[in-house]
Amino acid sequence: MRVACLGGGPGGLYFAIAMKLRDAGHEIVVVERNRPYDTFGWGVVLSDETLANLRAADPASAEEIRRAFVYWDDIAVFYRGTVTRSSGHGFSGIGRKRLLNILQERARALGVELRFETEIDGLEPYRGYDLVVGADGMNSKVRNAVAHAFKPDIDVRLAKYIWLGTHRKFDDAFTFIFEETEHGWIWAHAYQFDADTATFIVECSEATWRGLGFEHMSQEETIAACERIFAANLGGHRLMTNAGHLRGSAWLNFNRVLCRTWSHDNVVLMGDAAATAHFSVGSGTKLALESAIALAEYLHTEPSMGDALRRYEDERRTEALRLQSAARNSTEWFEEVERYFHLDPVQFNYALLTRSQRISHENLRARDKAWLESAEMWFEERATGARPNSARPPMFTPFRLRDLQLKNRVVVSPMAQYRAVDGMPTDWHFVHLAERAKGGAGLVVTEMTCVSAQGRITPGCTGMYAAEHERAWKRIVDFVHAETDAKIAIQLGHSGPKGSTQLGWETMDAPLPHGNWEVMAPSAVAWSRDNQLPRQMTRADMEEVRAQFVRAAEMAERAGFDMLELHYAHGYLMSAFITPLTNRRTDEFGGGLENRMRFPLEVFHAVRAVWPSAKPISVRISANDWVGADGITPQDAVAIARLLKEAGVDIVDVSAGQTSQAARPVYGRMFQTPFSDRIRNEVGIATMAVGNIYEPDHVNSILMAGRADLCCLARPHLADPYWTLHAAAQLGYTGETWPKPYLAGRDQLHRLAGRAEPATERV
Ligand SMILES: Cc1cc2nc3c(=O)[nH]c(=O)nc-3n(C[C@H](O)[C@H](O)[C@H](O)COP(=O)(O)OP(=O)(O)OC[C@H]3O[C@@H](n4cnc5c(N)ncnc54)[C@H](O)[C@@H]3O)c2cc1C
Ligand SMILES: Cc1cc2nc3c(=O)[nH]c(=O)nc-3n(C[C@H](O)[C@H](O)[C@H](O)COP(=O)(O)O)c2cc1C
Repeated sequence: MRVACLGGGPGGLYFAIAMKLRDAGHEIVVVERNRPYDTFGWGVVLSDETLANLRAADPASAEEIRRAFVYWDDIAVFYRGTVTRSSGHGFSGIGRKRLLNILQERARALGVELRFETEIDGLEPYRGYDLVVGADGMNSKVRNAVAHAFKPDIDVRLAKYIWLGTHRKFDDAFTFIFEETEHGWIWAHAYQFDADTATFIVECSEATWRGLGFEHMSQEETIAACERIFAANLGGHRLMTNAGHLRGSAWLNFNRVLCRTWSHDNVVLMGDAAATAHFSVGSGTKLALESAIALAEYLHTEPSMGDALRRYEDERRTEALRLQSAARNSTEWFEEVERYFHLDPVQFNYALLTRSQRISHENLRARDKAWLESAEMWFEERATGARPNSARPPMFTPFRLRDLQLKNRVVVSPMAQYRAVDGMPTDWHFVHLAERAKGGAGLVVTEMTCVSAQGRITPGCTGMYAAEHERAWKRIVDFVHAETDAKIAIQLGHSGPKGSTQLGWETMDAPLPHGNWEVMAPSAVAWSRDNQLPRQMTRADMEEVRAQFVRAAEMAERAGFDMLELHYAHGYLMSAFITPLTNRRTDEFGGGLENRMRFPLEVFHAVRAVWPSAKPISVRISANDWVGADGITPQDAVAIARLLKEAGVDIVDVSAGQTSQAARPVYGRMFQTPFSDRIRNEVGIATMAVGNIYEPDHVNSILMAGRADLCCLARPHLADPYWTLHAAAQLGYTGETWPKPYLAGRDQLHRLAGRAEPATERV
């Protein structure tokens, strides 16, 4: 086979080697613009797993690479005059130049032709080859030449970075250094890669970069400025650049590259040309090397080149997407890091270590138990005001809002049961809520309980608008207080345009087959083509609804609820006022966000005035309409939360979506938690996170990283009312209260859990 590898980085060289090892008869040329010892960049980090893959693919070069490795175990974070050090992370580093030289020598020995100092400019010279591999990096010309087929999507990320080196070795830890300047924060990622050199990547926001004048500096001036900024950690050593071939200052923005397809006819993309992963997760070289091995293998095991390219693309693209998802989390964390600079060093360090969401709480325990326990004790001290003697998982620490003290951080999220009769909660609700209160959660929230018959979503929804409702709710609340140490909140809402619809397990959100009632909304905008057109509310309607909320709050207080949540999410009445998708009013209740928030805030103030000042109020919002800039964006949610905070709301329950049929949510583990994180850390208000949080590990990492104060779990509590008690047993925590009649069950569960494997997630 005649193969042209265009680009002599790790991907192109390793592919040439892997092909020759499989068949020495292949005729392979590697085309590279640089000279052999002339390469941009300093050290790269590789994992033990990658080295094992290299050893299996080519023991000879793997041994050379292994010998060139330097190892370290710790991560050190310099931040606000402190250094936090954790261990067990296990990295190895190698100089990029050294790696390439090893691969060049190996390729040459195997008979690969290395054609240096040759610019690739279009595919014409390579027409006669059986296979053309585009391994020419992030700015690939091969990719551009066949852009119509590869359909690249290039996202230029926000931060500025420069890749430098230094003889200050940083040989004891992978080191992050955060420095505050008069123009904002700037940070370095530093790690050793050979006996006397370390990589030193400097990164900052564009605003800081401009403020510090880097925009107009030469490379020499940039280096001098960085040496001044990081002097405390450089110990008198200089910073160095080897990007002399780059014009200007050598500062770059990272390009996230994604391609719709990776192969077209006999041209195939590899490594950074096909997909990039941000340097802060340090896996781009790994991706390129492992793709090279995979393609060489499939070309020799699949029946045809077409089959080989298809299999390569299927498998490697999935792998790249998985890595890019972690890389995106990490990139965004650094882009938004200014949000976290108010955090204590312990929490800041934890948030940094878990930023890609590949490393969980229990992974950290496995890496460095002592450090994690000290962090847990710090968290507990903040929660209780007293220094504990031993660590407990963050989810089992108490939380206070006004005079309400929750025993732990787990919340049974509101969930409609559709079992009410004319708004009356029935025995179903009694058993359902009582079971969940017995199950260990600190707070149980009722389903959306409607402030009027018209305000119900379905005929099966509960209400708080008749004396018998109040009595039925009181029976439930009294049980919870008498028999458990959980607290109970009522969620009050009005369905607005999504009212008069079928039960959840029928056709959700669709009108009733018969017996529909009139619905109203801020504007005459129907939920869907099938739903009735709501009546646009008058001022008198608004006053009536406000009075209904006040009446329901008064009844909830008499029924003994500990807390009240206002449902301003999911497209129901208040949410329909907040989102511009359904609020088209031209009066003072429509238009800009302040106007759209006017009625929801008016209702909040009216409710707050009758709700006891010792008891907190939360508001649930949809922090993202998932329709882009036409609807509520996470940035708008920050502004909403700011208004709620100013109004005196105690905690924001950060949900998302269900406000538009056009929504395109991006699901995943904890997928709404970033909105809670942003609100909590930008606005400075307590938050509850919700949405696909289902493992104790999720709850602990969200709390410990300061991404929320409480975690709501909905579906997990449908499957398991005792989720919290089970989590305690799984984590070996014995401080939770079990109902006395169940103590024998507790003892058995803890005994059995003790025999089980500890809960860990793979990195
Ligand atoms: C600051 C920074 C730090 C990083 N740290 C790590 C890390 O710690 N660990 C890790 O695994 N990865 C890291 N990476 C990523 C890693 O460098 C890349 O993912 C990896 O090099 C990709 O290999 P590649 O062979 O696909 O492309 P490249 O290494 O980019 O190689 C492409 C080659 O093609 C050549 N070329 C390009 N265009 C032409 C042309 N027109 N004509 C001729 N030749 C051309 C280039 O000179 C180059 O030699 C880092 C990246 C950056 C930017
Ligand atoms: C059956 C069911 C009913 C729900 N009813 C409500 C409700 O009444 N009020 C509300 O705010 N959210 C309601 N939700 C949304 C949940 O509270 C939660 O936000 C959502 O299910 C995501 O959390 P999860 O991934 O833990 O299930 C409901 C969810 C389910 C599954």
